[in-house]
Amino acid sequence: MNSNDIIAALEHRSTPCYYYDLSLLDKTLDLVNEHGTKKGYHIHFALKANHEPKILQRIQKAGLGADCVSGGEVKQAIDCQFDPKHIAFAGVGKSDAEIELGLDEGIFCFNVESLQEMIVINEIAERKNIQAPIALRLNPNVQVNTHKYITTGLHENKFGISDEELLLVLDALPSLSHIQFLGIHFHIGSQITSLEPFVELCHKANQYVEQIEDRGFTIKVLNMGGGFGVNYSDPNAEPIPDLKAFFEVFDTHLNHRKDQEVHFELGRAIIAQAGSLLTRVLYIKERSTKNFAVVDAGMTELIRPALYQATHIIDALSLSDSNAPLVNYDVVGPICESSDTFIQDYPLNKLQRGDVLAIRSAGAYGQVMKSRYNLRPDFPVIYSDELSHPPTDIR
Ligand code: LLP
Repeated sequence: MNSNDIIAALEHRSTPCYYYDLSLLDKTLDLVNEHGTKKGYHIHFALKANHEPKILQRIQKAGLGADCVSGGEVKQAIDCQFDPKHIAFAGVGKSDAEIELGLDEGIFCFNVESLQEMIVINEIAERKNIQAPIALRLNPNVQVNTHKYITTGLHENKFGISDEELLLVLDALPSLSHIQFLGIHFHIGSQITSLEPFVELCHKANQYVEQIEDRGFTIKVLNMGGGFGVNYSDPNAEPIPDLKAFFEVFDTHLNHRKDQEVHFELGRAIIAQAGSLLTRVLYIKERSTKNFAVVDAGMTELIRPALYQATHIIDALSLSDSNAPLVNYDVVGPICESSDTFIQDYPLNKLQRGDVLAIRSAGAYGQVMKSRYNLRPDFPVIYSDELSHPPTDIR
C-alpha cells in the first residue's frame, strides 16, 4: 500500500472510505489459478465476501466462477459477466422467486439444504418443464477453530443435510423427475486457519461418496466450499494465504476420480487482504485510565470487530507528528453503541485530529456488511488503479 498516493487521493475524497489494492487481488488470483485451477479444480468466488462490480469483473476475467447465496447475488454475478454455467447457488432459505431466477438463468447448480427444499425445487422445475441441477449440502459435523458465529459444519448449526436426513433424501431422489443430481457440497465454516479441519472434511467426503454411490447414485461434483482464513494480525507478513498448502490438502486426502469435478467457493482468502477501511481521527479523548481515538468510520462501515470480536490491525497513514511517542488507544467510531470499537489498547504514535488511519484486512465481509444505522451516509471507494487520477468526491 503506497500511503503517499492514498493520502493524495484522499484530498479529493471524504472519509470514511474503502480502498482496494487491485494488484494484490491480481497476485492472489494468479496463485489461485496456479495452485487450484491448473490442477483441474473449479474455483468459485463467494460474492457474499465482496460484490463490488470492479472486483467481480476482475475475478471473472481471471476465470473464476461465482458462488451466490441470494437472487441479488445471482443477478450481480450475471451483470458482472459471470457465465450462469459457472454460478452455484447456495443458501439455507432460497425463496420460490430466487429458485425461479436460478432456473431461468440456467445456473450450474443449486446447493440444496433440505429434503423440503429439494421437493420445492423439483415442483418449480416441473412447472417450467426443465431439469434443476442440484448438489446436496451435507453437514459433516467437522469441528473448526473459529468464531462460533461463523462455524457452519456442526450438527448444531442450521446448515446442510444431517446424516439421518440424507437417507430420506436418497430415498426420495429417484421419484423427483425434475431434479438432476450432480453431487455433494460442504462448507464447514469461515476464517479457518488450520488445515486439519479440511483434512477431516476430505475423509468425511470420501465416506459420503462411498455411501451415496453404493446406493446407485453417481457423484460428478464434489464441492468442498470455502472457509480458508487469512492472517488478520500480520497482513504485511502474509498478504496472501498459503493457497498452495490449502489445495495440497485436497490433492492428498480427497479420493476423487478423473470423471469427478472438484469445486471450491473461496471468499475471504481472495479479497480480505486487498481491502482497507480509511478513516480520519475526529477527536482524542484522554483519560487517566484510557485514551480514545474517535474516528469517522464506525461499525456501520466495518462490523466485524463489533460482531465477531475480530481483530483488524490499524496503520497510521498520515500523522501530524510522525516522531510522536507511542500511546495506547481504544480506536472507536461515532456510532451510539459501546461495541462500536475497532480495537482496544492499541499502540499508535500520538494521534491528532485529522490523522488518517487504515483499518486493514477489510476487503472481505467489510463493505458488504455496511448498514445505514444512525442514518449513516454511503461512502466512497478508491481503487489502486485510480490513484494517479483521483476522481471527484461521490458524496
Ligand atoms: N460457501 C458457503 C456456502 C458459505 O456460506 C461461505 C461463507 C463461503 C463459501 C465463503 O467462505 P470464506 O471462504 O469467505 O470463508 N461475515 C463473516 C463470514 C461469514 C461467512 C459466511 N459463509 C465474517 O465477517 O467473518
